[in-house]
Amino acid sequence: MSGIFADRTTINSENRLAEMFGGNLGKDGIKFSAGNPDPELFPVTQIKKAFNNAINEYGNQIFEYQTISGFKKLRNYLAQRTIHTEDIKATANNILITQGGQQALDLISKLFLNNGDGIVVEAPTYVGALSAFEQYNPCYYDVTLKEDGLDLEQLELLLQAHPDIKLLYTIPDFQNPTGVTLSLNKRKKLVKLAEEYDFFILEDTPYRDLRYKGSRLPSIKSFDHHGHVIFVSSFSKILMPGLRIGWITADKSIIDQLSKLKASSDLETSGILLTALNQYIEDNNLDTHIVEMLPIYQKRLVTMLEVLDEKMPADVHYTRPEGGFFIWLTLPDVIDTQKLLNETCIPKDRISFVPGKVFYAHKNRRNSIRLNFSGVNEKQIKIGISKLAKSIESVITANKVETLL
Ligand SMILES: Cc1ncc(COP(=O)(O)O)c(C=O)c1O
Repeated sequence: MSGIFADRTTINSENRLAEMFGGNLGKDGIKFSAGNPDPELFPVTQIKKAFNNAINEYGNQIFEYQTISGFKKLRNYLAQRTIHTEDIKATANNILITQGGQQALDLISKLFLNNGDGIVVEAPTYVGALSAFEQYNPCYYDVTLKEDGLDLEQLELLLQAHPDIKLLYTIPDFQNPTGVTLSLNKRKKLVKLAEEYDFFILEDTPYRDLRYKGSRLPSIKSFDHHGHVIFVSSFSKILMPGLRIGWITADKSIIDQLSKLKASSDLETSGILLTALNQYIEDNNLDTHIVEMLPIYQKRLVTMLEVLDEKMPADVHYTRPEGGFFIWLTLPDVIDTQKLLNETCIPKDRISFVPGKVFYAHKNRRNSIRLNFSGVNEKQIKIGISKLAKSIESVITANKVETLL
């Protein structure tokens, strides 16, 4: 029966990506297509205790309906954390707790985007964000991502030509999928552009605390004095994604609007989970947990870069991230990485990656690859990347021979 369902199903999560690209690899396969934190690093024992302690402390009340914006103590904690780590003025009234960062992206799209409204996205960008925006039928404007983030000259030309642009979506720290970080100057300039051309910036920061090298840059929101920036973050990558807890920091007027939309969607985020998370934070030191994970991910990143440096053909270029979960490879134009994956990497090498084209609003670029390093160990990285390099080299050579003939 066609025509019954509205056409709103897209590739909308990291799980779906891993399933689509490499779900059939089997036990010995090496998956560079995932986008998740390593489950071995989840503080399961402490979380178990936190659930027990929270139930003992709050009794039946924990199982009741709570408030739309989320458990007040947790919002107070997030406001304090925002002040201290981000240098952003905030109280609990500036915070809305959401079901992961993903719900934040959906609610913000719902609030801002009418049919055909302009939204600027990085090219490439996070698939889940594209799937959230797509529900509201926007008009996409792509801006190229350079080594130091968005190409602001290109952006300004777009802003001059399209006054309908309402929103700009950026992942300034260790971007998904490229690992690129937006430079300090560009962060400041972006806020100036938002003020001049009157649009909102959606600053999405789930990887922000996962820096393995260099120093932390101020958030874009820390330069925002007129309410043009909406800051989104999540506990998924720094703690565990199964909690499904994220949050939005914005001016109270925006938070109030978003809270109404959230109520229509799910009434509230589970009070049981929020109270238990708050208990975990009171009983443990979240920052210590984050700091303990950093050297583990750092070692995986360094190993992947070393093997890429050693094995990849010279005409393959890749990013050198200072944090996050991903490295982005650009192959010669003629190579279709989806074909490489389907014909060689999955069936012969038993390795997977995500072909870059899924990360573009306009899906016409086919020669890039996203590699994940957070979910694989060093041995897997050495074996898997060596195989990938060999297969890429064969395709490049075959193409060269073909053009000579
Ligand atoms: C850039 C980015 N934003 C948002 C999300 C959504 O994460 P969650 O809903 O688990 O917080 C992800 C998940 O991979 C992501 O990479």
